[in-house]
Amino acid sequence: MSKHDILNAIGNTPCVELRHVVPDGCARVFVKLEGQNPTGSYKDRMAKAMIEEAERRGDLKQGMTVVEATGGSTGSSIALVCAIKGYAFTVVSSNAFAQEKLNTMSAFGATVDIVHSPSGKITPDLIPSMRERAKYLSTGENFYYTDQFSNSDVIVGYEGLGRELLDQLPGGIDAFCGAVGGAGMVMGVSKVLKKELPDCRVTVLEPASAPVITKGHGGRHSVEGIGIGFLPPILDKEMYDDALAIEESEGRAMARRLAKEEGILAGTSTGLNVVAALKIAQELGPGKVVATVACDTGLKYVRGDLFIDN
Ligand SMILES: Cc1ncc(COP(=O)(O)O)c(C=O)c1O
Repeated sequence: MSKHDILNAIGNTPCVELRHVVPDGCARVFVKLEGQNPTGSYKDRMAKAMIEEAERRGDLKQGMTVVEATGGSTGSSIALVCAIKGYAFTVVSSNAFAQEKLNTMSAFGATVDIVHSPSGKITPDLIPSMRERAKYLSTGENFYYTDQFSNSDVIVGYEGLGRELLDQLPGGIDAFCGAVGGAGMVMGVSKVLKKELPDCRVTVLEPASAPVITKGHGGRHSVEGIGIGFLPPILDKEMYDDALAIEESEGRAMARRLAKEEGILAGTSTGLNVVAALKIAQELGPGKVVATVACDTGLKYVRGDLFIDN
């Protein structure tokens, strides 16, 4: 692959310190701007890893069709990688996710198959039904189901994010937190951080209205990308120290503050990440460092109600 290949534009995102939303008396808080990846989210890292690891093993060969079930960020990333590598891509998604994401997947050449959510919400049965449909559509030898929720190749994709954090914060990282969908991001980053900094505290986050990890049951919510309604198979208890449920309303308010006060335009899952990072920063106090990620660009959500003050 040439060094000028678009796939080499994935990763190496900036890491910025929050200057305005962090109250006095807190640890410093740093955020990786993952919206700067080519499709606007950290999912580009895992899409590239899932496709290239499958190619390396010989599970995916030219002429095959890739299949996945996704809210649209993973799908946009896989669609980009498939477009560049010449694979057909069939993606199962839903009207519960931003129309921008569905259109982006089509723009990259994917075939989009919709599972209808009657309420327009992410209900506990939605992702399982989308996965059933993807499994059905990938029957036969000419298909490769990337199965993001049980595919450990995603962890390989996110290790780079962890390594970048270590380089960008050479003074050390006392805590890292991240909201969990399939859990690939937190698991990949934690694997690297815990190896180099064994005392770094890793916290996984979920919407308080869908507390599968903290309370054992799912629920309806609108935080795209997380709160998938079941415990993600990749989530390994050994790789995190604690779990926090964050109110979706607080995450949404923080997404608006991040835009207005920090110049970071990102989605609701990022809002949750920063709400939690501030709670941890308050507990740890001055002299410590907390890191988290801005998962994706808020441009995906400007047409919805996220940035409308209420
Ligand atoms: C916007 C957004 N935030 C957070 C996540 C959660 O990431 P992970 O699946 O690695 O846990 C996703 C995953 O789809 C996402 O799209």
